[in-house]
Amino acid sequence: VGGHFPAICVCLHVCTCVCAIEIILENNLNTDVLEELAENSEFNESKGPCLAFRRAASVLKSLPSAVHCLGAIQGLPCLGEHTKAVMEEILIFGRSFKVEEVQSDERYQALKLFTSVFGVGPKTAEKWYRRGLRSLKEILAEPNIQLNRMQRAGFLYYRDISKAVSKAEAKALRSIIEETAHWIAPDSILALTGGFRSHRGKEYGHDVDFLLTMPEMGKEEGLLLRVIDRLRDQGILLYCEHQGSTVDMSKLPSRRFEAMDHFEKCFLILRLEEGQMERDGGLQKDPGESRGWRAVRVDLVATPVDRYAFALLGWTGSRQFERDLRRFARKERGMCLDNHALYDKTKKLFLPATSEEDIFAHLGLEYVEPWQRNA
Ligand code: CTP
Ligand code: MN
Ligand code: MN
Ligand code: MN
Repeated sequence: VGGHFPAICVCLHVCTCVCAIEIILENNLNTDVLEELAENSEFNESKGPCLAFRRAASVLKSLPSAVHCLGAIQGLPCLGEHTKAVMEEILIFGRSFKVEEVQSDERYQALKLFTSVFGVGPKTAEKWYRRGLRSLKEILAEPNIQLNRMQRAGFLYYRDISKAVSKAEAKALRSIIEETAHWIAPDSILALTGGFRSHRGKEYGHDVDFLLTMPEMGKEEGLLLRVIDRLRDQGILLYCEHQGSTVDMSKLPSRRFEAMDHFEKCFLILRLEEGQMERDGGLQKDPGESRGWRAVRVDLVATPVDRYAFALLGWTGSRQFERDLRRFARKERGMCLDNHALYDKTKKLFLPATSEEDIFAHLGLEYVEPWQRNA
């Protein structure tokens, strides 16, 4: 940038969006950086800034093209002064010193590493950090640390589950789980949710999310446990944390909406054979690791059919989209939306829905396709 610096200064002050010197800046680069700042704020329990960075990242993601100069973001909503300062640094210097400061921070690095283990949240990570631990090796070598079952699985399969899951792998898992569910109940319905449903062009995810239901109310009871048993019998269940349903419809309208829903669900680690992926095509082989299988994280949620549309909408994400949709329902429509239901506070009644389209219609919104929900 060096020699052209004055030209860019001018650009920042009298920006016409046609910069004298074009700095190609992919929005992805910006949003990754903002997500890191959000994560850092989360570690510091700064909820406000964390949400602000996430919201800013979402706004940038939704832009049709990359940001080339500050003028291009001047009129955008949700970009706070911190975000703008970071983007300014990137546009001028090609890097952000604020972000580099965070990235090189010892505490941030340790907390990021620890929370990358399945079953380890910010609280546990902080506890380990305070005890002077800095690496995963040190944690495993520390005799006074009691890992719970989930964390033990997290460490055991760490390498596999920190590796991105490909679309082909997600597809293969879908076949396995669908086959298993159909073997138990031929009319059961399995839907792919999460990032693999909503992300247009995104080829990878950190896990694979599914929603399971039965066409007839009540018939879903016991189904998930039988699916789990069957996966175990097939020898592909490496880890399972099952949570029973705690849905209580009578309580919903008066409750504050929580992050976690009350449906029956399980957090799984499954063993995926390479042969299984080849059968579905598109296997990418890593010659360094040819033991013939990998471990994959899978979330499987079961709902009664009358809750299915709400759960599908809630589990498709993105998190930010869900947050915004709920806020819109509350602020603009006087309605409460969560993964279970939509409640009209003025009319004091639950609004039924058999599809996501129904829910958008109740909210007076045009239908938003899953791939348009990933900002
Ligand atoms: N979700 C939820 N309740 C949870 C966990 C997740 O409602 N207890 C929803 C969130 O809205 C999220 C979606 O389910 O957007 C999928 O969650 P997750 O798998 O964590 O994220 P993905 O978008 O699938 O991205 P990734 O590739 O990281 O899995
Ligand atoms: Mn997911
Ligand atoms: Mn996602
Ligand atoms: Mn998930």
